[in-house]
Amino acid sequence: MKSTRPAIQTVALASFLGGATAIAATQRPTPAPNSAGLALTIATGSRISRDGPFFKSLGSNGRTCNSCHLEEAGWSFTPETAQALFASTDGLDPLFRPIDGSNSPAADQSTLELRQAAYSLLLSRAVIRVGLPVPKLAEFELISAFDPYGHASALELSLFRRPLPSANLKFQMTLMWDGRHSDPANALAVNLERQAAGATTGHAQGLTEPTPEELKKIVAFEMGLTHAQSNDAIAGPLDHRAKGGPKHLRATPTRPNPGPQPSPFNLFGQFDRARAGATPAERERRSLIREGEALFNTHPITIRNVAGVTDTGGKPVLLGTCATCHSARGTGVSQIGTLMDIGISSPERAKPELPLYRFRNSTTGEVRESLDPGRALITGKWADMDRFKVPSLRGLAARAPYFHDGSAATLEDVVRFYDDRFAVHFTERQRLALVAFLQAL
Ligand code: HEC
Ligand code: HEC
Repeated sequence: MKSTRPAIQTVALASFLGGATAIAATQRPTPAPNSAGLALTIATGSRISRDGPFFKSLGSNGRTCNSCHLEEAGWSFTPETAQALFASTDGLDPLFRPIDGSNSPAADQSTLELRQAAYSLLLSRAVIRVGLPVPKLAEFELISAFDPYGHASALELSLFRRPLPSANLKFQMTLMWDGRHSDPANALAVNLERQAAGATTGHAQGLTEPTPEELKKIVAFEMGLTHAQSNDAIAGPLDHRAKGGPKHLRATPTRPNPGPQPSPFNLFGQFDRARAGATPAERERRSLIREGEALFNTHPITIRNVAGVTDTGGKPVLLGTCATCHSARGTGVSQIGTLMDIGISSPERAKPELPLYRFRNSTTGEVRESLDPGRALITGKWADMDRFKVPSLRGLAARAPYFHDGSAATLEDVVRFYDDRFAVHFTERQRLALVAFLQAL
């Protein structure tokens, strides 16, 4: 395996350069390189306009929506983009603001070294500190907060979360990792306006909300963005004999997939049909991506102990697949908007650099620990502990690391997590195929 790496990288680089220059010269928008190939964003209209309020400082700390949602990072940001910005500005760019950029808002940031330490989680995992209280009428109380940075309390827990992409939004059933700003009584555009107003008074420390006009423009802009991997470094264009890339995604219907066992992804079924002039490496990579898609849709996984899934509907064990949860056509969000606990907040995953919380159920006295209780801090319900939304799987290669806390550095780590969590026992080939498929989304 190791000996083939340099060869793959050479091929990758050659097709990056070829692909990028050919497309950039003839049209906008321009594909952005990532470790697996190229990703492309298309916007409503012919080009991505950077004149609108999404790119303007609307608050008091210099931040814009674009401080945390970057096209080249799949409309999120990554440790690489943050580290480059830190290096070029000595950690003074508006991304580095104590309100929610540093490990604690009180951290001393007076020297470069102190800033390096104060922003260590943002720089290493590309996470933002979301501060939320235990709701007033919650069914539980916080009995202790272990916060290595000395800030968290029941008034404000420190929850370190990855920015979700501000693209492909028409496919979202639920907004935010914990489903806040997702009032089902509202149209998606209205929920997105509330979200953008909150981001301005929160992240950007605005003293007032943006004007209704500005909110409408922000939402129209982000709703118009479709982002996906467009070119695999080895397999080539992902819309050649296949339905990868943003144009096919934009045309995907948002209505639910029919049938009890959804097959959300039908992009690469014909991808490995022989093509004149294809190299053996290209053919092999195309087969791998096609196999990965089939595994995602059909490989059996015994799903146990997933709050939100196996504790409702009377089936404690569910024979499913990756697609049971990632069910919506074209994106793999949950097509019924379920929030669930697959174990990312479990105290078994505690790290010395992350806060750990202990809660007691006020009625039963039951005690549990969590790294981030997710949905429960919005609803106050014990049954919602550690539940998060099922995120979209498009454009993944551009925006590592993964899971709400950035705890999986690579897609290999994601697949290994599932292998262990549900004792799937994937073969080496199956793991490679799943990773190749996820990289091609
Ligand atoms: C300081 C970084 C930061 C800034 C600035 C920022 N965001 Fe975000 N954004 C985040 C984080 C972190 C999340 C996920 C938080 C969570 O789920 O708890 C997020 C989530 C979102 C989502 C939800 C996507 C989904 O799939 O649910 C949208 C939409 C969004 N942001 C748009 C915006 C807009 C519009 C602005 C400007 C008004 C903005 N953001 C400014 C960090 C930021
Ligand atoms: C029981 C439901 C369930 C199953 C089965 C499942 N997922 Fe997930 N998946 C989730 C949830 C929920 C999250 C978000 C978890 C979090 O961050 O707290 C997630 C997150 C992910 C992410 C990270 C996305 C991001 O933006 O960070 C990837 C990639 C992923 N899943 C791929 C897969 C693959 C591949 C399989 C099959 C091997 C699979 N999932 C099976 C529910 C599921």
